[in-house]
Amino acid sequence: PEPGWAIDADVVVVGSGVAGLTTALRCAAAGRRTVVVTKARLDDGSTRWAQGGIAAALGEGDTPAQHLEDTLVAGAGLCDETAVRTLVTEGPGAVRRLIGTGALFDTDDRTGEILLTREGGHHRRRIAHAGGDATGAEISRALVEAVRARAPREGSAAPAVAGTGTGTVETIENALVLDLVRDGNGRAAGVTLHVMGEGRRDGVGAVRAPAVVLATGGMGQVFSATTNPAVSTGDGVALALRAGAEVSDLEFVQFHPTVLYLGPDAEGQQPLVSEAVRGEGAHLVDADGVRFMLGQHELAELAPRDIVAKGIMRRMREQGTEHMYLDARHFGAAMWESRFPTILAACRAHGIDPVTEPIPVAPAAHYASGGVRTDLRGRTTVPGLYACGEVACTGVHGANRLASNSLLEGLVFAERIAEDIDANLPPATAPAPAGTPPASVAPGGALLAPEARYAIQRVMTAGAGVLRSDASLTGAARALEELHDGAAAELSREGKTAEPCVETWEATNLLLVSRVLVAVARSREETRGCHWREDHPDRDDSGWRRHLVVRLGRTTG
Ligand code: SIN
Repeated sequence: PEPGWAIDADVVVVGSGVAGLTTALRCAAAGRRTVVVTKARLDDGSTRWAQGGIAAALGEGDTPAQHLEDTLVAGAGLCDETAVRTLVTEGPGAVRRLIGTGALFDTDDRTGEILLTREGGHHRRRIAHAGGDATGAEISRALVEAVRARAPREGSAAPAVAGTGTGTVETIENALVLDLVRDGNGRAAGVTLHVMGEGRRDGVGAVRAPAVVLATGGMGQVFSATTNPAVSTGDGVALALRAGAEVSDLEFVQFHPTVLYLGPDAEGQQPLVSEAVRGEGAHLVDADGVRFMLGQHELAELAPRDIVAKGIMRRMREQGTEHMYLDARHFGAAMWESRFPTILAACRAHGIDPVTEPIPVAPAAHYASGGVRTDLRGRTTVPGLYACGEVACTGVHGANRLASNSLLEGLVFAERIAEDIDANLPPATAPAPAGTPPASVAPGGALLAPEARYAIQRVMTAGAGVLRSDASLTGAARALEELHDGAAAELSREGKTAEPCVETWEATNLLLVSRVLVAVARSREETRGCHWREDHPDRDDSGWRRHLVVRLGRTTG
């Protein structure tokens, strides 16, 4: 489809979690006309669901160097040390600026100091939290409020709320991004969108801007059971692949060890039981009530996430069960209610009372450690295209992200992207940047029918889940090719593709990212971080201490 409408901006940000909204606020503060487009409502992404918190060396005696060390260990030899150093050094300041934006963290009533908890892989209390276990919801609330205050006043280029500076943030909700628009020199020049039910900006249109920031979050919906919301369908990685950008480390899908187990057929978003529950002293026990993580790692239940997930899976196999238990009965009702109200309510809604019984838990897909490859200023390999947050691969996570480093990464790199845009793009002017070509919708091949989503999830869960092998991955690759070929055959026979809508684009994006994920997971013949190969059970530093980088039509390693 051809775009029916187009608007001009200095910066277009795709996505509205911590990464997207922080980028937008910083760009606007520097005077840029910024447009945020988001697939659902402004607070519908993964940020809102974050429980445990945000990691930063804020506590007495803690240092960025110690945070660096824990991050590198969790990353299993594949972190970019310079990127991690940037993250941990700039992290504390970025958290304080987030507080300046209005986010309210839990503090000690007497001293006013920020309260800190522990999570897997951290050797000290380093995780700031809000509302007990509702950190993401509070961050999202504060950022959405700040963004709304910068909405352009009707008929004016100034923000609605006086005193916020000259830059504005216009938001377009229910706007599914389709493809990148590029100018004659191959630079990013905007995005095409399919907007549904948003009045004057309805249907297929374009936002033209010389800087495009992808902040679309993750791709947990590739699997049947995930902690991610329904919107996490890999749209940013798929767009970047179609635009010829490099994508790296896609095989490193992190499975969160403790997700509330709701039965073998549970599908879609599953309730998370934060690592912070273990950080405050909960124990993992098997079907016999035995603490099986003791002796497996010096940190036991607080080992890095991949090690705990593997420990759970192994014990499940040994005992022939489908879950383990998290026992925190000793917290008592008062602590559960004040410290973990969200988790308590979710468990009770499913008929489990953590105050009186252990919680059944099993690993589920949680986080994409890889993504669109960027440098330290968030720049992808396509000029003018940036990536920030879970969609990006900045090098800070390596083969396994350290708990609670993701909100921090979104904050720190959003600020860096805004600085880069400020330093390298001409200052805001009223008219559209000269030379921006008319928008065009890239064809993107055949669109998949919405039901394909569930077929993809089943294939990926069976073949590319926590435990992988060449046989399982080869089977997954074959099944995904059949889905792809089926859609292409239908297109050539019927001459038409599935009706473009959110569901068909999502299924199409899920298929593309799944095919790439399976291909790189098959190539990596070792076990490292959250990539666990049954047929190659050891880490192989002589052959595999390297990244698998994909550009459509090319893979390097
Ligand atoms: C959690 O609260 O366990 C999730 C934290 C994270 O994914 O970093």
